[in-house]
Amino acid sequence: MPQCGAISILPDVRKEAATCSACGHSYNPHKGSATASSFTCPTCGSTHRIVEVVRQIGHVPEHRLYALDYKCARHGRHYKTQTQEDLDLFTKAKQQLQTEDNLIPKAEIPDGYNTRQILNFNYRYWSDCFNERQLYALSTLIKGILGLPPEVSDKNTKEFLILLLSSCLEFNNMFCSFKGRGTGAVRHMFSHHVLSPEKVPLENNLWGTPESSGSFSTLYYSKLRKAKEWCLRPVERIINGGKEKELIAPPLDKPIEARFAHSWVELVNTDANAIVRCASSTSLVYIPDQQVDAVITDPPYFDNVNYSELADFFYAWLGLVLKDYPEFQGENTRHEEEAIVNLTQGKTPDFYQDMLFRVFREAHRVLKDEGALVFTFHHATDDAWIRVFKAIQDAGFYCAAAWPIQGEMSVGVPLLGKKNAIEHDMILVCRKWPPPNLSFSRWDQVFTRILVETDSLSQRTL
Ligand SMILES: C[S@@+](CC[C@H](N)C(=O)[O-])C[C@H]1O[C@@H](n2cnc3c(N)ncnc32)[C@H](O)[C@@H]1O
Repeated sequence: MPQCGAISILPDVRKEAATCSACGHSYNPHKGSATASSFTCPTCGSTHRIVEVVRQIGHVPEHRLYALDYKCARHGRHYKTQTQEDLDLFTKAKQQLQTEDNLIPKAEIPDGYNTRQILNFNYRYWSDCFNERQLYALSTLIKGILGLPPEVSDKNTKEFLILLLSSCLEFNNMFCSFKGRGTGAVRHMFSHHVLSPEKVPLENNLWGTPESSGSFSTLYYSKLRKAKEWCLRPVERIINGGKEKELIAPPLDKPIEARFAHSWVELVNTDANAIVRCASSTSLVYIPDQQVDAVITDPPYFDNVNYSELADFFYAWLGLVLKDYPEFQGENTRHEEEAIVNLTQGKTPDFYQDMLFRVFREAHRVLKDEGALVFTFHHATDDAWIRVFKAIQDAGFYCAAAWPIQGEMSVGVPLLGKKNAIEHDMILVCRKWPPPNLSFSRWDQVFTRILVETDSLSQRTL
């Protein structure tokens, strides 16, 4: 592979010496010509920073198809070097992209903390994150969904299929890679909540086969259908002594089905059970004072994830498809009240604290006196926690309980090297000030409780 481009199947990948079966070249399969940020020219031996070379070439890095991972019904799973036929198929898709009337996002990538990670590599439009075949396949699928006749698909079903397509986007772009070489699973582009160009991208099959990962046909079963089936028969999972059990108990003893209201009056006076709004939680004007039993929320984790910067990747496509919906009229998903710390966008820790305070103050207004504000939070720095706690206090709450749970980071992405990585999420239960006794209201007491609970949870997990 390093010399002639052929695929060598190695008998033992742990060995540091290998010989190419096609050209006889000897090499160490553990040593490539590139590290995370630099590469060494195999001809002259000089080393360069990848980003600097890409900046000089002035366009998005190009990729070369060098191998296919396939499964044959008779011989099982294999890799093969690309043939002329494979290259011709790609060329055909490229031509169809140019000659047919396609639905491709035209949105530019705005400047930001995460977006600079790819702007630095000359990505200028969200469509630059895909190769031509991916763009053509996605456009064909979107047109197929939008063109379904009414007797096959009503508006609701089309929205579901668009939701599924949105899920496929993160598994079908040039930032995807192997989840584990040899497993066939696709690591989607947001596994680390960043925008990081991939040196060896994995182009997935968008429609998929029964064994594909991250494809339209498989995600239909594993995500969309499974979620709807759960809504029809909701269960709680109980894990006891390592064994998992399903529990059906109130309120999860009947199907979860939303019947939407357009106003508070309609919600309380009809059999409607939900209102959905796409707006900042700093203003819940449609809810009168002291009407709500619980506010359950999940605010951003300080500076950990820049939601709108990453969500724009999806919005670029959804804005095309859902252009008649009022929620999709904006140029992108940035919002002046997005509660994050992002210095590139001018959002400081003070701004974050003030936003949380305004969200919690509004929660305080709509909550009944005996109501609870419940939310999850995690962060590795004291400063983030202190600001959350101050926002809670300033809004008129005290923290009544703190429950640690296994967080997304512990299973979702490798912890090592991730900025502010932390293994546990904390569920904080806040009630209206004053507390019945003042024993558990000060920040240092909450902090001690967090440490004690986290420590005992780690010991239980060991
Ligand atoms: C931790 S995430 C929630 C993730 C969600 N629970 C889930 O599982 O997908 C925080 C969310 O808060 C949203 N957000 C930030 N500022 C907000 C505001 N002022 N009002 C409402 N939502 C806001 C972000 O856009 C982001 O989607």
